[in-house]
Amino acid sequence: MEHRDFLTIRDLQAEEIGEIFDRARRFRDAIPAGRLSGRSVVLVFEKASTRTRVSFEVGVARMGGHPVVLGVEGSQIARGEPLSDTARILSGYCDAIVMRTYGHDRIEEMARWASVPVVNALTDRFHPCQVLSDCFTLEGRFGGIRGRKVAWIGDGNNMANSWINAAAVLGFELVLACPEGYDPDAYVVSSAVSDGAKVRIVRDPMEAAEGAIAVNTDVWASMGREDEAQTRARVFEPFRVDERVMSRADPRAVFMHCLPAHRGEEVTDEVLEGGRSIVWEQALNRLYVQEAILDFLLNG
Ligand code: CP
Ligand code: NVA
Repeated sequence: MEHRDFLTIRDLQAEEIGEIFDRARRFRDAIPAGRLSGRSVVLVFEKASTRTRVSFEVGVARMGGHPVVLGVEGSQIARGEPLSDTARILSGYCDAIVMRTYGHDRIEEMARWASVPVVNALTDRFHPCQVLSDCFTLEGRFGGIRGRKVAWIGDGNNMANSWINAAAVLGFELVLACPEGYDPDAYVVSSAVSDGAKVRIVRDPMEAAEGAIAVNTDVWASMGREDEAQTRARVFEPFRVDERVMSRADPRAVFMHCLPAHRGEEVTDEVLEGGRSIVWEQALNRLYVQEAILDFLLNG
């Protein structure tokens, strides 16, 4: 069966993202009841989650569909059943597969064998649902982000890679301040730049924040990197987002974080709880944007 997956933001064109954002606005204003009537979506989680899991489960229910959460512990995936077999089985029962996992190759393998849309709910390499939703939040705040400057401060992780992809598709400027040795994926950067994206990596958080409309950060040790936490805490110390960094940004700038946050590490409590922080709005918008993604993939 002909279908589309959403594994990275590069899977979408700018016009399609505009269409998804239109639907997300509609779904925020009125529950999209019936849009997934009679359909089931399986949510496969190989890593912990609060927001993604609950927002997808509630979103599918609000659309009149049936969400099936498959925690991997207790499933045959944990006992080594190949993803190629799992994908074909799940495709028979369900109309879409949402998956959070470790290596990005695992979700690619799932998508290769599935005959229904596969949605990336986070891999070690990308977190496209979060960043698409964050761009929706920023557009809502600033009425468009093309040509504006966005800052990323901290680890060149899955979130950073997805912001780079978003900059390439949506045409905003992205300056990332990362410690040496913790840059984003080199291929993601080079393909964005060769497609004309205004993406730069610097070493000074102040330089990244200068004039930005949004200052973004994330944990210093992502899921699966916990054993590096001590070393990372030392390396990332100068990359904490505090009031001094925020004061270098545009006077209307917002602070963004996908959460969960470690207060006092990558961001001060003052900034996270302060008037510029839009983290709660970001988290809420996950619901509407993910509903819109499912609607776009399943209803055309
Ligand atoms: N931001 C995010 O994806 O949160 P969870 O890990 O709680 O899903
Ligand atoms: N970079 C973080 C994001 C969590 C939502 C992680 O992968 O753990």
